[in-house]
Amino acid sequence: MVKIAPSILAANFMCLEKELLDIEFAGADLIHFDVMDGHFVPNITFGPMILHQAKKKCGLAFDVHLMVNDPIKFIPWYAEAKPDIITFHLEATLNPEKEIELIKSFGIKVGISIKPETDVEVLDNFIDVVDLILIMSVNPGFGGQKFNHSAIDKIKYLKEKTKNTKTLIEVDGGINMETAKLCIDAGADILVAGSAIFGSNNYADSIRQIKGE
Ligand code: DX5
Ligand code: ZN
Repeated sequence: MVKIAPSILAANFMCLEKELLDIEFAGADLIHFDVMDGHFVPNITFGPMILHQAKKKCGLAFDVHLMVNDPIKFIPWYAEAKPDIITFHLEATLNPEKEIELIKSFGIKVGISIKPETDVEVLDNFIDVVDLILIMSVNPGFGGQKFNHSAIDKIKYLKEKTKNTKTLIEVDGGINMETAKLCIDAGADILVAGSAIFGSNNYADSIRQIKGE
């Protein structure tokens, strides 16, 4: 069964505690926490203090998506809050092995992500060493963008490559009821959705619809 990771980028920050409690009650599986540095992407979001506080309010697993240059510098800041997964971008580092090793050293699951314009084959050498691969189906930086269908072929490719592994495939950007079905059929394990959930007036219904229930 596919898991849903609502992105709190689309939540109402003025009442983040209520949003976290509501989304947990609505049946979310994980909380997707988008970190942007204003350099790797043209936007800035949450620092580690917010992660610390959010984790105290919500019992779900936290899925931290680092959209930052030089992730090696940021990983210890976020690792301290003990999220379940930290994902960094392959495009943001010259030595991804170092980030992988560092995240693992904190006992946290490692995710690696690629932007829509990056070829999926660059992940071949990492499939066995990471816990999760995050396929971006929009250009990272903002919520509410249109799904890029190149993600579907990437998911199918990874499904085949990961078949003898425990590596999970996650998709992020432009997920709604229709695009979710395409991703699920292609083999995705986790779907990130921001605006389709937090922009709706019934979080539980939206989660169920995205899951295809
Ligand atoms: C984009 C973020 C996404 C984003 C998804 O850079 O990584 O997690 O919040 O938002 P929607 O679901 O609105 O496309
Ligand atoms: Zn994200």
